[in-house]
Amino acid sequence: MGYKTKEWRNSMRVTLDYNNMTDTFLGAQGFTAKKLASFNRKATAAFRYVQENRGKDELYMGWTELPYNQDEIVADILATAKEIRNKFQYFVVLGIGGSALGPIMAFNALCHLHYNDLPKAKRKGPKFYVEDNVDPVRMRDLLDVIDPAKTCFNVVSKSGATSETMTQYLIILDLLKKAGVDVKENVIFTTDEKKGNLKKISDEVGGIKSYILPDGVGGRFSQLCPVGLLPAAVVGIDIKGLLAGAAYMDRVCRYSSMNKNPALMCAVLQIAAMEEGKNIGVMMPYSDNLKFLADWYCQLWAESLGKNVTLDGKPCNVGQTPVKSLGVTDQHSQVQLYTEGPFDKVVTFLSLKKYACEMPIPHGCENIPDVAFLGGHTMEELIQAENAATAYALTKAGRMNYTLWIPELNAFTLGQLLFLFELQTAYAGAMLNINTFNQPGVEEGKKATFALLGKAGYADKKKELDSLPEKNQNCII
Ligand code: PA5
Repeated sequence: MGYKTKEWRNSMRVTLDYNNMTDTFLGAQGFTAKKLASFNRKATAAFRYVQENRGKDELYMGWTELPYNQDEIVADILATAKEIRNKFQYFVVLGIGGSALGPIMAFNALCHLHYNDLPKAKRKGPKFYVEDNVDPVRMRDLLDVIDPAKTCFNVVSKSGATSETMTQYLIILDLLKKAGVDVKENVIFTTDEKKGNLKKISDEVGGIKSYILPDGVGGRFSQLCPVGLLPAAVVGIDIKGLLAGAAYMDRVCRYSSMNKNPALMCAVLQIAAMEEGKNIGVMMPYSDNLKFLADWYCQLWAESLGKNVTLDGKPCNVGQTPVKSLGVTDQHSQVQLYTEGPFDKVVTFLSLKKYACEMPIPHGCENIPDVAFLGGHTMEELIQAENAATAYALTKAGRMNYTLWIPELNAFTLGQLLFLFELQTAYAGAMLNINTFNQPGVEEGKKATFALLGKAGYADKKKELDSLPEKNQNCII
């Protein structure tokens, strides 16, 4: 691995501390060593399943190889991103779900928190927007702040059949036409190589610049392919660092023993907790930059594990509800529930050892000791103290929690986190014996939407919807 020095890479290693899941710290509420050891066989089998199926497109396991097989694509993306930065004032991603949450997450994690408000000279790229809804107000408001002729639109959809994304595309296409702009100049697709509607559209207009969303990579596992890499490169994120971080974590997790493999241990901790009725997994970063990592994780965990049938066809209803929470903000809204409510949660803290800047707290209000004690500290000290204090309070109340320690936030450590969560999800899915990579529950909603909007081929679905019983007016109060 040629990314920086070995010493630097090791100093940036993300580590797991799960002491607060054990009986030593939680008493009767915690896992004994014996209980955890009882997962050894299952965990090793899950590790082997993932290892044996790495890179298999037919199983949607292509994501495991993304840190290693994209040299040419990365070079192309970097060149394109440079052109985009020179040519456009705005960059807009049109996509939803796995095609949007990754770009949003990386942008918020690694760019200035008020990036779009910075003067042009201080930004590394064009103003950046990700449109992942079909709320008409949102589209109107976007169009109020961009000039389509000066905007590069990255339409991201594997299928090209997602109503939300294609609706947005139709609106943009119409605007570009009206402005006399050639769609080929202002639009880039990220889509399937051979099939799907974006491929057809591109062929029809004689070739729109298109990046490939590889066959074996599903939406929620796609941040480390062009879906996430192009938007990231446009705003100046070090995409080689992201991939190097993912490869580093892959190596860290090369062990079949859960005691040496943090992603496997995280999967075991969550599955063991779920077996004890902890059906809510709270992801709580103590960093505004990581707020949307929690969003991205929620999709990964929810859509991958929420299934009703096992791989051998047996009915099941499994999954754990992921909840996003932001430290310290949500200490003042949710932590009361986490500390004293039902014993149904596991809290994952994402904790920074070092923030990107220091913010000293000046001395003042010397006559008011309640306030004066803050002076002379830094905001970093305060947020870290609050993080430690919340972990302590939860532990004291017998609530399961563990921490992923991040030396500092950069492309390399973010890449590690992404790969750790992807591996954790794949291991957990294997332990639950479900298909981690499909999403039939989402497909059903997509079909019902098609039927409601009269799409050809969905007449039967429309009949199914129409055959619902009449609404009981007594239930509408
Ligand atoms: O994770 C997934 O597979 C989904 O969230 C998809 O990304 C989402 O439904 C969008 O699909 P598509 O890329 O086909 O437009």
